Amino acid sequence: MIISLYSTKGGVGKSTTILSIVNAIASANRGSESPESVCVIDADHKQGSLAGFFDERRKRGLPDHSIECRVIEPSDDTPELLYELGEKYDHVIIDLPGQHANYVVLSALQADLVLMPAAMTLVEVNPVRLAMKNMMQIIREHSLPTKVGFVVSRGARIYQFEGRTAKGILRSVQRARFPILKTPLSNQGTAMTDAWATGHYHFELIELDPKAKSSVNAHEDAVMFWDDCKTYNIVEMPAEDDEESEVTDATAGA
Ligand SMILES: Nc1ncnc2c1ncn2[C@@H]1O[C@H](COP(=O)(O)OP(=O)(O)OP(=O)(O)O)[C@@H](O)[C@H]1O
Ligand SMILES: [Mg+2]
Repeated sequence: MIISLYSTKGGVGKSTTILSIVNAIASANRGSESPESVCVIDADHKQGSLAGFFDERRKRGLPDHSIECRVIEPSDDTPELLYELGEKYDHVIIDLPGQHANYVVLSALQADLVLMPAAMTLVEVNPVRLAMKNMMQIIREHSLPTKVGFVVSRGARIYQFEGRTAKGILRSVQRARFPILKTPLSNQGTAMTDAWATGHYHFELIELDPKAKSSVNAHEDAVMFWDDCKTYNIVEMPAEDDEESEVTDATAGA
């Protein structure tokens, strides 16, 4: 499976989403007789997030769990590279830079699944929904097999879809008929800070400290989220007569 992380807006949670997925796969791979091979591509290396995480693992001598990280400069050749790596690895996951450049869009579309994270705030959702609308239009026009999915990121675990504004925004995204992956990547602030700083996956952090609630929650979400990606498990569309959303300005761009 090839997965691309795409957003024209920065800081929405692309690298964090990849780290969650990789955590879920690494955890399943450990001790497995048939581990799934993964190639993570950091094509947004100016941020250094993913490459930095894997460098930290190497420095600490932590096992690779069949997961490899490559750093590339994205170019017109990137879609072809993705195709080739897709033949070689079970999963290829690419972190793309937040640019409108053709090669970035084409690289995103080379994937089986394009993930577009956003916290349920208008400032993040509005640019992301515009990018998703364009992406879905290209997919339709060219009858591409690519699937797309909104990733709800940075939702507090409890609120999930309950906060009034967040829920309204979420409804408006649904009404625009944008697919939303079912499991939100809840508030992972502490767990992520620990992971980035130490090069440990969440499941390894839990072993170091079984009471680290933030890592436990982040790990549980990650496992469910990865399952959603594999099965394309998306939030069901609301009934046509659903009147719950009052956030009308959020629908304007869709
Ligand atoms: N689910 C989450 N819970 C809490 N914090 C999060 C979550 N997802 C992302 N963040 C935080 O938001 C910030 C941006 O996340 P991240 O670096 O993953 O975004 P990005 O889209 O890769 O950004 P960039 O465009 O800079 O590469 C980070 O500080 C990260 O810790
Ligand atoms: Mg990033």
